Amino acid sequence: MKVSFYGHVRQYENIKGEIDANINEVLQSGSYVQGPMLKAFEAQAAEYFGTTYAVGVGNGTDALWLSLMALGIGEGDEVITNANTFFATAEAIWIAGAKAVLVDCDPKTKCIDPAKIEAAITPNTKAIMPVHLYGQCANMPAIWDIAEKHGLKVIEDNAQAIDGAGDTFKQGDRSDAVTTSFIIQKNLGCFGDGGMVFTNDAAMDKTIRKLRNHGSDARNVHSFGFNSRLDDLQAGVLSAKMKHITALTDQRIAWARVYDEAFKDCQSFIRPTNVPGYRHVYHLYAIEVKDAAKRDAMVQFLQDNGIDAKTHYSIAIHQQDGFPWGKPCEVVGSLENSEANAATCVSLPMYPELTQEEIDYVIGKVCEWDQANQ
Ligand SMILES: Cc1ncc(COP(=O)(O)O)c(C=O)c1O
Repeated sequence: MKVSFYGHVRQYENIKGEIDANINEVLQSGSYVQGPMLKAFEAQAAEYFGTTYAVGVGNGTDALWLSLMALGIGEGDEVITNANTFFATAEAIWIAGAKAVLVDCDPKTKCIDPAKIEAAITPNTKAIMPVHLYGQCANMPAIWDIAEKHGLKVIEDNAQAIDGAGDTFKQGDRSDAVTTSFIIQKNLGCFGDGGMVFTNDAAMDKTIRKLRNHGSDARNVHSFGFNSRLDDLQAGVLSAKMKHITALTDQRIAWARVYDEAFKDCQSFIRPTNVPGYRHVYHLYAIEVKDAAKRDAMVQFLQDNGIDAKTHYSIAIHQQDGFPWGKPCEVVGSLENSEANAATCVSLPMYPELTQEEIDYVIGKVCEWDQANQ
């Protein structure tokens, strides 16, 4: 049997009628850039997410650096984030001209460890950029308290945790901006690139709108800006999918519980922690192989058996090389949890459209490997 890592073609087939209707509406309207479909989707997204504003941009990376830039963060400034994230989080900080300062993650949540943030704050620190990794929200109440104490901005990288939350808070409650990516493999994905900035700040909303559109909010009038717009076709796709996001997330969580139960006696790896007080949305179901030396062999075993397992992310930010300008980031304290995560992580297929038969097959092969490697 073959089990793909992604289910987006099935997802399209399941709601094809709604997606096609929106695409057709855009095509017939003749308005493809900053048109009515984008406007409608931005309103829908803001209402769904619970922020006053939502601005569609070109991708999740742009959403991050446009937010930094809109907050006036750039040359000479430092932004604290975690080392175990997709490269784009740190990349966005560099694009804005600032320095990425990396601190370690919590070993259970894999998100930035709030207890390690204050040691990384210097007079140049301007913002904290926590990443809600794998679908698990960071401990935002603790992060907001630190940010408020030190007068720092907060931008949440929510590319992986749309529809997630804490039980007592939701993303964005006390942040300057929350960003997301709509690239197809995300929990809410379009048919190409897309991203969004959510904010409750009217000035931030206005600035991002100008920055994304060549610095213009009136015809022929420009200030400094770029071209980074979410196009109306993608907005139409996302609008149709957003109506189903809660049910789709619930199905991810249901599959995670099936994996959790099936793997509870496995000895060779650690299951993702179901941290109380959070709605983990399982963008990824990432296990940790106890013996790091065997991690790649496990991935290979699963792939040899038709299961498209992957690693996210096997090289932490500070472990990347090849930067022509030298060290790309500053490291504060030990990054042992991030490094351990990079060395041991394996992501199993996880999406709502998996079938029971596929889940059973994955479970069977993972348990077979576990039995042979305890
Ligand atoms: C945590 C994280 N941040 C940022 C991004 C960047 O998003 P994009 O690929 O849309 O630029 C991604 C995904 O690609 C991501 O997973």
